Amino acid sequence: KKLGILISGRGSNMASLVEASRAAECPYEVVLVASDQPDAPGLAWAEAQGIATFAQSPRGMPKPEYESRIDAALREAGVEAIALAGYMRLLSDDFVARWRGRIVNIHPSLLPKYKGLDTHARALAMGDADAGCSVHIVTEELDGGEILGQATVRIEARDTAETLAERVLREEHRLYPRVMTEWIKQLPR
Ligand code: GRF
Repeated sequence: KKLGILISGRGSNMASLVEASRAAECPYEVVLVASDQPDAPGLAWAEAQGIATFAQSPRGMPKPEYESRIDAALREAGVEAIALAGYMRLLSDDFVARWRGRIVNIHPSLLPKYKGLDTHARALAMGDADAGCSVHIVTEELDGGEILGQATVRIEARDTAETLAERVLREEHRLYPRVMTEWIKQLPR
């Protein structure tokens, strides 16, 4: 299946999806990496790997126009499913509806806890014993769709938001390709 990935920055989760896709038995192929930030480091990495890239800044453009350009690039590349990987922009209801059930996201918390930003600082402030990450279907509700898989990380007494983020990120890199592989297999054409 043809996968498109949307990023805004570093793109380490995108890279983990790309690296996993090189296994012979992998059921998906990354055909496009698109970013709303033309200078996203992840975009340069994808280019260097020989993956088609698309950069579209939303600046000075109505959101529907911006999104229809992204949509057109995805469709031209033959994309069948979209992975959000650190894509820091809310997709409109209209975009989500056009790709219903075909967009997944990775979020750095054990959803339904801590939707939105600053997840690690919030988990620490609450005195939680565990933190983690979730892969979920994207719906109109922010970080709210069906959860496809999660990984848990034990919180240590000396953790800061940064040390916790690092450990959770390592789990993200394992979780995302694993969940993607299972999910995309059962996705209808
Ligand atoms: C990750 O922590 C991801 O869970 C969140 O944003 C971060 C993106 O990091 N949605 P990267 O760009 O994949 O390195």
